[in-house]
Amino acid sequence: ETPIRKICCIGAGYVGGPTCSVLALKCPDIQVTVVDRSELRINQWNSSKLPIYEPGLDEIVQKCRGRNLFFSTDMVPALKEADLIFISVNTPTKTFGLGKGRAADLKFVESCARLIADVCERSKIVVEKSTVPVRAAASIVNILKANTKPGVSYQVLSNPEFLAEGTAVNDLTNPDRVLIGGEISEDGKRAIAALSWVYQHWVPAEKIIHMNTWSSELSKLAANAFLAQRISSINAISAVCEATGADVSEVAKAIGLDSRLGPKFLQASVGFGGSCFQKDILNLVYISESLNLTSVAAYWQQVIDMNEYQKMRFGQRIVQAMFNTITDKHITVLGFAFKKNTGDTRESPAIYVAKHLLEEGACLHIYDPKVERAQILLDLDQPDEKENSCVRIFDDPYEAAKGTHALVICTEWDQFITYDYQRMYDSMLKPAFAFDGRKILDHAALTKIGFHVETIGKRPGQRFQEQNWAGANGM
Ligand code: NAD
Ligand code: UDX
Repeated sequence: ETPIRKICCIGAGYVGGPTCSVLALKCPDIQVTVVDRSELRINQWNSSKLPIYEPGLDEIVQKCRGRNLFFSTDMVPALKEADLIFISVNTPTKTFGLGKGRAADLKFVESCARLIADVCERSKIVVEKSTVPVRAAASIVNILKANTKPGVSYQVLSNPEFLAEGTAVNDLTNPDRVLIGGEISEDGKRAIAALSWVYQHWVPAEKIIHMNTWSSELSKLAANAFLAQRISSINAISAVCEATGADVSEVAKAIGLDSRLGPKFLQASVGFGGSCFQKDILNLVYISESLNLTSVAAYWQQVIDMNEYQKMRFGQRIVQAMFNTITDKHITVLGFAFKKNTGDTRESPAIYVAKHLLEEGACLHIYDPKVERAQILLDLDQPDEKENSCVRIFDDPYEAAKGTHALVICTEWDQFITYDYQRMYDSMLKPAFAFDGRKILDHAALTKIGFHVETIGKRPGQRFQEQNWAGANGM
């Protein structure tokens, strides 16, 4: 007998959408319905332009949608029919009340639990896929138990998602591991086995790890904290490099060759962004404080503080290099997404840098291959793109660069590496600056063209001192 025939997933976001698309692709015998209360999002999932950009996702959705993959706002019937329900709604940082600015807001998770208890007439497995504080499953269990219809029971599992944006399809197809946390009881074990069966359609059994619910919940927060910690660590070293003449790329290479450390996640940058790292670490800090573990809280808080410092340093460096004033100067920002291969700008360091430049009086020309124009304006609190506005958004990087004093790279898009920088240079005001916040460009080549180049974790080229200033325009 097939234990799971129908799955419903609440939340058609960056996690729910790609996860269920891959699930539907790999499990043709399971019907997957993704529900969301946002009609706009569901309409987009049902259209030819999906609400999120993720390499390889369009093809999968096209293949499965209408076959065993459905997107709907009609939550009640989908929940009633399902054998297993994923909760993958957002769990943002609280913006008010107790734990404001740090604790995770579980109101959406709670409302899902209440709805499930309200409408379901037979027993189900409820899977917490959203990232939550440790022991959140206990709250879900309590809400379900207090509202369950007679004769119905629930098993609540923790199954955190480890996909990274921009590589979601690959991460989901070939996960390093799948974590399933549940109760140690017989019912708990049966539920864990059922969810494992779903994943075993494509994930090797040895990669599916079972553990207690609290370990599973904490592992997700810990994994993100460790990943972000590596970035803050190398970024801290990048500041030392800039002060001493060491090169952070060389240091990272040397560190990464130690097999105990490994080469990944050692890329110094303008700072980490994305919807998860900051939120989840703040959540860990808040939990630690609530448990009176103040030293633990302070330890992890430092990962966030170092990231703020890194973003600030980069912003200040741009102003300093441009003779301590950028008032009325035009600056091209290349990249607005928080990383390449996504259109997502949540917590993007580009937002911080752009705001800093605007506060200093600069006018920005912004180009990103995937971020929507309206999203950039929203992130920068710009009501509308007017003729005389200090934020202009371009569809073409060369048009963006024309007549500006500087290029600022905020996202590591591959296409930025191969641009014709001579062409850009020729159309820019002189002296022309290039600030590479991602360390992706050929700095020697840029310097040769004539740019004054600055990057993370490396002393600026000597171009400036060597350059003959006479005739330089744009000052
Ligand atoms: P998201 O904001 O993209 O999507 C969440 C969706 O849930 C939204 O479309 C929203 O309309 C819907 N929603 C909220 N409350 C609802 C309700 N009561 N009923 C129906 N729909 C509701 O968020 P996301 O990026 O997909 O993240 C979801 C969860 O997964 C978060 O807990 C996040 O921490 C975690 N996570 C995210 C990533 C990532 O890369 N984005 C990776 C791993 C884990
Ligand atoms: C992260 C986790 O990697 C993923 O496992 C989890 O499920 C969700 O959070 P995501 O935020 O999508 O994924 O992207 P990630 O690749 O982790 O990058 C996060 C940020 O760190 C980006 O801004 C990226 O540019 C930056 N980064 C990453 C660096 O600055 N240096 C690095 O070496 C790696």
